[in-house]
Amino acid sequence: MAELKLTELHGSLTNRALNSMNFLNEVSHHYPDAISLAAGRPTEEFFDLEDLHTYLDLFADHLRARGYDEAAVRRTIFQYGRTKGIVHDLVARNLAVDEDIHVDPEAIVVTVGCQEAMLLTLRALRSDPYDVLLAISPTYVGITGAARLLDLPVIPVAEDDDLAAVVKAARADGLRPRACYVMPDFANPSGLSLDLESRRRLLEVAAEQDLLLLEDNPYGLFPAEGVDRVPTLKALDTDRRVVYLGSFAKTGLPGARVGYVVADQTVEAPDGSIGLLADELSKIKSMVTVNTSPVAQAVIGGKLLANDFSLVAANRRERDLYAANLKAITDGLAARFPGGEISWTVPSGGFFVVVTVPFPVDDVLLEKSAHEYGVLWTPMSHFYEACPPIHALRLSCSSVTTAQIDAALNRLAALIADQLP
Ligand SMILES: Cc1ncc(COP(=O)(O)O)c(C=O)c1O
Repeated sequence: MAELKLTELHGSLTNRALNSMNFLNEVSHHYPDAISLAAGRPTEEFFDLEDLHTYLDLFADHLRARGYDEAAVRRTIFQYGRTKGIVHDLVARNLAVDEDIHVDPEAIVVTVGCQEAMLLTLRALRSDPYDVLLAISPTYVGITGAARLLDLPVIPVAEDDDLAAVVKAARADGLRPRACYVMPDFANPSGLSLDLESRRRLLEVAAEQDLLLLEDNPYGLFPAEGVDRVPTLKALDTDRRVVYLGSFAKTGLPGARVGYVVADQTVEAPDGSIGLLADELSKIKSMVTVNTSPVAQAVIGGKLLANDFSLVAANRRERDLYAANLKAITDGLAARFPGGEISWTVPSGGFFVVVTVPFPVDDVLLEKSAHEYGVLWTPMSHFYEACPPIHALRLSCSSVTTAQIDAALNRLAALIADQLP
């Protein structure tokens, strides 16, 4: 039998980011009776098999209305397809309706989830060993993991760091920051959002420093009760500085694995010809996933058609459920911890609440919590590049009922009480 050594495989395989998701999945499989406030998956409350048929039919009708004959309709849905996708025009209309983002559909690459969008973008940007990615810290493991796969170091930027100073310091060290990854709306894991003023300032800094921004926005459609949405960076971007990473996992359906990237930046070739970054990403995609499943795209396309291109409209029930659950978590923490022993964020939307406690929170404590207390959450240490002891954990409100939240918070309160000095 061929025996391989982990130390002789790609270095990313021992990286924490790549092991984080597997570890969390293993813990939840091991303790199936534990209530999970760990998973950031969307609610299953409204999943309906009938919808899939409806969406497929709507997409097929849409093709017919465009003049496709039956053979062309079948071919479009059954066959290998266009690398940049077959629902790019519908995605462009969705962005115009929901986000006031107006882009040429040719600047959109439909991807296998947002995860592939990140990988393609980072692959294109990483060209030499001095390239680095900046990322607001704490950050999503999907981006740090993708960067690791590509040997692209990530420099964390704390929420209150001066981005321009971080860029200048990296350049002074001989590094080339290629982009900064940001999540201005209800970030994962911090739950934090940028106000309008900060978004404008971020765009200004990016322009001054000639830096691309990678804007990831899977949670933007889920503001808390009474909160108005703020325009995305891409909607405010007047000089194509923002590469917009989109996901339908929370707003369409996660199993379709459809996402996209808006890459409307121009790229000049050595012969002086000008193309779009999207076309370069498409070349990479042709060697990664060839094309995004047309069946899955048809389902998402049908959902867009069914809702006049508005996922805000399509997700009213989900938005209400998440807003109620988020409030149940923050109210529930306030009721259980009136004395200031611990603190927590009160996000203006999204799925995540961060609880800060006076003791270190690590994977060992998570196992203990699952085994002895029957509640799962995510150690915040998973979202940091370096791993000093972090005294915080992330709670997710998205895939539980309010009754489960109540029970889970009782269990969490018992764990915390036992850990307090
Ligand atoms: C910040 C962030 N970006 C991207 C994704 C993944 O998107 P997708 O499922 O479309 O790959 C997630 C999923 O949890 C996320 O939290």
